[in-house]
Amino acid sequence: MLRGKRVVLGVCGGIAAYKAAELTRELIREGAEVRVVMTQNATRFVTPLTFQVLSGRRVLTDTFGDDGYDMNHIALADYAELMIIAPATANMVGKAASGIADDLLSTTVMTLRCPVLFCPAMNAAMYESPIVQDNLEKLRRAGFHVLEPAAGDLACGVSGKGRLPEISLIVTEAARLLSPQDLAGERILVTAGPTREPFDPVRFITNYSSGKMGYALAAAARRRGAEVVLVSGPVTLPPPYGVEAVMVESAREMFEKVMEHLERSTVIIKAAAVADYRPAVRSRGKIKKTKGPLILELERNPDIIAEVGKRKGDRILVGFAMESENLVENAAAKMKAKGMDFIVANDLNEEGAGFQHDTNKVRIIMNDGSIESLPLMDKLEVAHAILDRVKKLRRERKRDGS
Ligand code: CTP
Repeated sequence: MLRGKRVVLGVCGGIAAYKAAELTRELIREGAEVRVVMTQNATRFVTPLTFQVLSGRRVLTDTFGDDGYDMNHIALADYAELMIIAPATANMVGKAASGIADDLLSTTVMTLRCPVLFCPAMNAAMYESPIVQDNLEKLRRAGFHVLEPAAGDLACGVSGKGRLPEISLIVTEAARLLSPQDLAGERILVTAGPTREPFDPVRFITNYSSGKMGYALAAAARRRGAEVVLVSGPVTLPPPYGVEAVMVESAREMFEKVMEHLERSTVIIKAAAVADYRPAVRSRGKIKKTKGPLILELERNPDIIAEVGKRKGDRILVGFAMESENLVENAAAKMKAKGMDFIVANDLNEEGAGFQHDTNKVRIIMNDGSIESLPLMDKLEVAHAILDRVKKLRRERKRDGS
């Protein structure tokens, strides 16, 4: 996610400083080059040696000392593509908001021209204090990015909002801030996961969809600056940060939510594995077993994408097809019949593709008849490849004035 990116990590003097060590590891694992700057107080919680070992680089703590010689605040400004301040204490937030620059970290914040992400972590009462809130607001207005702290048990013994956000979330935000915002202005509606079609209060019909492809699409679109609504059937994945998640169970509920959000959307990507049929009758009580067989009558669910196709106007509509035979012919026929701009076709016979896997191997069939076969890739990479096609279509339409 962060291959080759140069990140300056500012660590302030709060108990969450120990978590900054894990953050350093994660940033490095994602491919970033990390330079750590610590305040004097931070070095009382965790030694610079810890960060030196983890980052593989000398840690900077002093504007005037030896370490400030080759990498001072000016050099850091030229070096950094992103600065993360984690934990950001009330003191550092206040200093940055008021233009105080009295140590290497605060002078660096003032010199940088790259995005700066503050990750506040402090006692809940401190965080809620109107002064800290005002300062955070001031930072946001000045173009700094601020990640809300998480709620939970705090090291000081109280419970409330003030915990350093999850490391994975900080890394996700870092990736977003370092990505080109080439989908800014798009409002993308993604559907994901299976649907559940109940026939009594405890049983339902469903399929093996894990939601991974749709969730990867939502995360990738958000990272590239789009506003994202994710209408999802029941899955075990957490919704990606910054995405509006709308959870549904049945195909009919999914239909309703998709139609509700259609008006505001500019792009619709239907990655959900919608059940084509539902039990015709839903028993109020649990169905008891009998000696004979149980016959369930099934009736058709609404075809969501076909309905979107009819109402889409100039929106871009992308569908998925999962086939076990005649992949290209069947997928192309679905695309035409349902008014899609392009379709992403999965071959059920391919190793590592389709439901449950972290990878996918797809063919992208465009409305103009062109077909592209992508190699086996991580679902996040497939998501970016799909979004690249969306971007290309948008560019072509703008050029043609439609
Ligand atoms: N889809 C939908 N509503 C349904 C069924 C499918 O919106 N009731 C969407 C899926 O999200 C997917 C596309 O239609 O983007 C193709 O789904 P698929 O199940 O492969 O196609 P079907 O048209 O249902 O054809 P079949 O099941 O006969 O292969």
